[in-house]
Amino acid sequence: MNQRETLKINDKGHLEIGGADAEELVKQFGTPLYVMDKAYIGQMCITLTSALKKEYGSGLISYASKAFCCKEIYRIIEDYGMGADVVSGGELYTAKESGFPMDKITFHGNNKSFTELTEAVLCGVQHIVIDSLGEAEDLEEICAANGTVQNVLIRVNPGVEAHTHHFIQTAKQDSKFGFSLTDGSAEDIINSVIKKPHLKLCGLHCHIGSQIFEIKSFCIAVEKMTDFYKKISDELGISFSVLNLGGGFGIHYAEGDPILKLSDYYDFVKTICDKLKTCLKEKGLEKPYLILEPGRSVVGEAGVTLYTAGRIKEIKGIKNYVAIDGGMFDNPRFALYQARYTVAAAAKMLLKPVKKYTIAGKCCESGDIIAEDCMLPEIEERDIIAVFSTGAYNYSMASNYNRNPVPPVVFAENGKAYYAVKPQTYKDIARNDV
Ligand code: LLP
Repeated sequence: MNQRETLKINDKGHLEIGGADAEELVKQFGTPLYVMDKAYIGQMCITLTSALKKEYGSGLISYASKAFCCKEIYRIIEDYGMGADVVSGGELYTAKESGFPMDKITFHGNNKSFTELTEAVLCGVQHIVIDSLGEAEDLEEICAANGTVQNVLIRVNPGVEAHTHHFIQTAKQDSKFGFSLTDGSAEDIINSVIKKPHLKLCGLHCHIGSQIFEIKSFCIAVEKMTDFYKKISDELGISFSVLNLGGGFGIHYAEGDPILKLSDYYDFVKTICDKLKTCLKEKGLEKPYLILEPGRSVVGEAGVTLYTAGRIKEIKGIKNYVAIDGGMFDNPRFALYQARYTVAAAAKMLLKPVKKYTIAGKCCESGDIIAEDCMLPEIEERDIIAVFSTGAYNYSMASNYNRNPVPPVVFAENGKAYYAVKPQTYKDIARNDV
């Protein structure tokens, strides 16, 4: 657990999130429950936006909504002057319904439909990121029919792949996203987009990976992207006004992961900005508007999921299972990626850990596990189980598997909590059944 003023253990030995006692939250809202520490999100937004502003100037922190998407998060990030990236008609709709300014939206995706592209054009989004020639052609047709000119970026693949502590540079590229910088396909798409009268090519976009701690990987991406900007400027006489470097900053999940302070995130942004300024100077390029798209780092550590312990199954010499009232339908990350989490008994925070438990979900599937081998105090039925760092890619990847309702989301701040997403009912789940 990455403790701070707004995530701590109170005098009763209970977990406190945004000043609200976990036990009280459970009494008020029930379990399973996603709790978001609102102040932490605000601190991350201020840190990232001020770093970009002070260390670079012209640019935008564009929150990657796929990490956690609901109307309330758009209202919050708007308050901090941020932009947002969306990857589907559904995310675009949610942003629009929340009143988010459409001229701060970037629309991504490797297979946007004609309908989604039309919606984005009609909304007046800031940038659409082109991922294929067919998409550029559809977009030209849509814009021509609507008499508009759309600002676009092109998704490219700079040949840097980064995951947590490792990154690799590859010349050969296998990705469903974007155009290679090395085999001529990026030049080809640029040449065809600039001939389309209703598309205005503003620059390029790349995203090298997620849960990255190795800042050098971003610096290599900056080098490769600016090399390419230079090449395009020399060979085609085009100077790009925008550079979007995607997201990817890592967060703390469990033992072994670095614990980053706000100042470390500031330094991540500063390092990227410094590297970019150096590369621009060396290559004699104009300063582009810089977009960064953090998702996980903005909301990940703000989230804690609270569950109620149910049946406990002790298999002598093998394992102790605690079954909770949630599971892979609210957090599929263990099942998908063997993701690790830190777990606690929210009303037994000061008791000594005495036993190893595996936290199992309630779905009819052996792989439905939330976390393995967690050292906890003796757990009894009805204990509150807290799982940390669940703010990103949990609610957004939740499902109705086994027809379990997606848990509600509350935001906690200054000891008070309110619904951002209300509980789903069985009726909601069966609503579209015919
Ligand atoms: N921009 C683009 C174009 C992206 O594809 C992504 C994430 C981001 C920004 C935000 O990256 P972040 O700052 O959140 O790392 N479901 C996986 C994560 C998939 C990330 C996909 N793209 C997980 O649960 O770990």
